[in-house]
Amino acid sequence: MIKKCVIPAAGLGTRMLPITKAQPKETVPVVHKPVIQYVVEEAYLSGIKEILIITGKGKRAIEDHFDRSELLNKSHYLEELEIMLRDLDIFYVRQRDPKGLGDAVRYAEAFVDDEPFALLLGDNITNPPCTRMLIDVFERYKASVIAVEEVEVSRLSHHGVIKADKVEKGVFRVEDLVEKPKVEEAPSNLAVIGRYILSPKIFEYLKKVGVGYGGEIQLTDALREMCRQDGLYAYLYLGKRYDIGNKLEWLKANVELALRDKEIGEEFKKWLKTLILNSFK
Ligand code: G1P
Repeated sequence: MIKKCVIPAAGLGTRMLPITKAQPKETVPVVHKPVIQYVVEEAYLSGIKEILIITGKGKRAIEDHFDRSELLNKSHYLEELEIMLRDLDIFYVRQRDPKGLGDAVRYAEAFVDDEPFALLLGDNITNPPCTRMLIDVFERYKASVIAVEEVEVSRLSHHGVIKADKVEKGVFRVEDLVEKPKVEEAPSNLAVIGRYILSPKIFEYLKKVGVGYGGEIQLTDALREMCRQDGLYAYLYLGKRYDIGNKLEWLKANVELALRDKEIGEEFKKWLKTLILNSFK
């Protein structure tokens, strides 16, 4: 059973500047909630009980968001959040230097304590939640598993990309991985989307990897070692994924999720229709 989850939230948010000049990218709002609340909800809905959030300089707003609120009876959104928080233990650790995702994950070793765990990037939303599906694959194959999706060739150089053999519908055995390859060197169109179920062996590999793409310690490089030595599977996620570290995706997430929202969806749809009709006149 996967009971622990690690959420790296220490990235600098460079692609979201200037929004992220004084605000963590993980607290950027999507309709009613900051992005990281969707990620914590995804973990919770997948049966997770303990969460470690890896923060860094300038990220205190994340801790404040999950703290007790004086305004509890003023908003049903706060009440819903509070109900979830009563069932979760959330811990925090700060990455000292922004040395990359692989370095941030290293800070989770003591928390994970030799158990397999979920790793969910704090700036990605999946709808429906991807983690529960990944846990099912992990339980069937008894090996680490990462979520991937098919992306347009031109977008491959923004992702980790896998080389893989299909083992069943929607599940692949990973042969190799490369972080942010040049389009012409990408081994497939299957991109890593920031949802992972990992064996604690990942920490051994993270200790060994050197500086990789962009001068940072890359999780993808440790996963590459893992796939060679222990085996690694990939699950093809068919839902909707939004990378909120990117302005266009962030706007799309707001529009799509606002259209489906119970409270403002109908009115927003009407307004959007009129706006679109008028802009084609
Ligand atoms: C990270 C990972 C990359 C993955 C991506 C998904 O990159 O290193 O492999 O494809 O998340 O969002 P980042 O977006 O943090 O640069």
